[in-house]
Amino acid sequence: MTSQLYDPYDHNIHTDPFPIYRELRDRYPLYHNEDKKFWALTRFDDVLNAANDFETFSSEGGITIEGGGNQFPMMILMDPPRHDRLRSIVSRAFTSRRVAELEPRIRKLADGLLDEFISNGGGDLVDALASPIPSLVIADMLGVPGEDRAKFREWSDAAIRQDPNVPDTQRAGMVAARALYEYFGHVVEERRKRPADDLVTALIHAEVDGEKLSQQELLGFCFLLLVAGNETTTNLISNGAIAFAENPDQRRAVREDLSLLPKAVEEVLRFDGPVQGLARTLTREVEFYGQKVAVGEKILLLYGAANRDERRFDEPDKFDIRRKQRSHLAFGQGRHFCLGAALARLEGQLAFEALLTRIPDYELVSGGREYLHSGPIRGLDKLLIEF
Ligand code: HEM
Repeated sequence: MTSQLYDPYDHNIHTDPFPIYRELRDRYPLYHNEDKKFWALTRFDDVLNAANDFETFSSEGGITIEGGGNQFPMMILMDPPRHDRLRSIVSRAFTSRRVAELEPRIRKLADGLLDEFISNGGGDLVDALASPIPSLVIADMLGVPGEDRAKFREWSDAAIRQDPNVPDTQRAGMVAARALYEYFGHVVEERRKRPADDLVTALIHAEVDGEKLSQQELLGFCFLLLVAGNETTTNLISNGAIAFAENPDQRRAVREDLSLLPKAVEEVLRFDGPVQGLARTLTREVEFYGQKVAVGEKILLLYGAANRDERRFDEPDKFDIRRKQRSHLAFGQGRHFCLGAALARLEGQLAFEALLTRIPDYELVSGGREYLHSGPIRGLDKLLIEF
């Protein structure tokens, strides 16, 4: 019964999806889970082509298999032309200059967090480094106090941990979304009265062809940034910390030559990326491997499986920072390509630089790893390290 083979909410998948991904790519390149009523693509070329074809593979039915939209408009849940209009407006505010300017602050932040971690003699790296970096950076960009980080974390954690089989998680997700909108409602109101040098102010004023974001679009974008910015980069750092510890030769190579950091980050993204798969809804019938899939069906694009496709990468299960790199799909592809990719790469590089130079020989504590439970996101709730 292949319905049991792959379910994004299965806790065993969260611990290690890769053997199942291989089976899907080899035996069921168009996989159908009849119980949960979704399809999945896992081969690199199929996922790439589908992500590029927004006319057929629509985001408007939601990006998880159970679908559903959001209370406020968000571009990740839209197709062109609405999507492109919103993206071009926010791109006026979320610029590469704004990201590049953050470098000294992020470096200092990573160092300060590690000072404390080292003086405590080790512990949970998620709590100490991987989680605070992205949330403090996003708080800083949005111009809200760092002390509110704990609230942001709670809200964004609840948003990605919604499991249709566990009603409590869905209720928690709704409560968090309401709290977040209320919080940012106040922030936006405040910035309209007293503009500041921050992203919220820039978003209020950003315009394309005389058009600005509505209040609802502004709040939707704050929500998206908080969730997309918090829940992904944390896991880039945690998943990378594991890959480096398990491949000490690679870790040594980066430590001895920090110019390898950008390549190392790309390899972590390919090898064990934070976003494993997002859904689309079919707007027309498609056919893969002789099987037809009807209009309205949900289909998962498994970026994490595509990034281990042996049809695309040599020895895909090997973590090799020096591999002849070919582009991966960890940030998606096409119209929805991650808006925060430059920021995520910068945060990843600076976090690994600090970790590998300050605690060069850290080790993973046996049994000290807890994978988080989320449909789309792969990463950790806890990662104990010692040195
Ligand atoms: C390692 C970290 C990250 C990963 C792996 C990641 C991954 C992704 C992926 C796969 C998508 C495509 C969504 C789709 O196909 O439907 C996406 C979109 C997006 N990401 Fe990221 N992301 C990361 C970090 C960030 C950060 C730091 C931010 C912002 C602060 C961000 C903001 C966004 C936004 C706004 C979108 C929607 C773009 C659109 O719909 O046009 N992401 N991200």
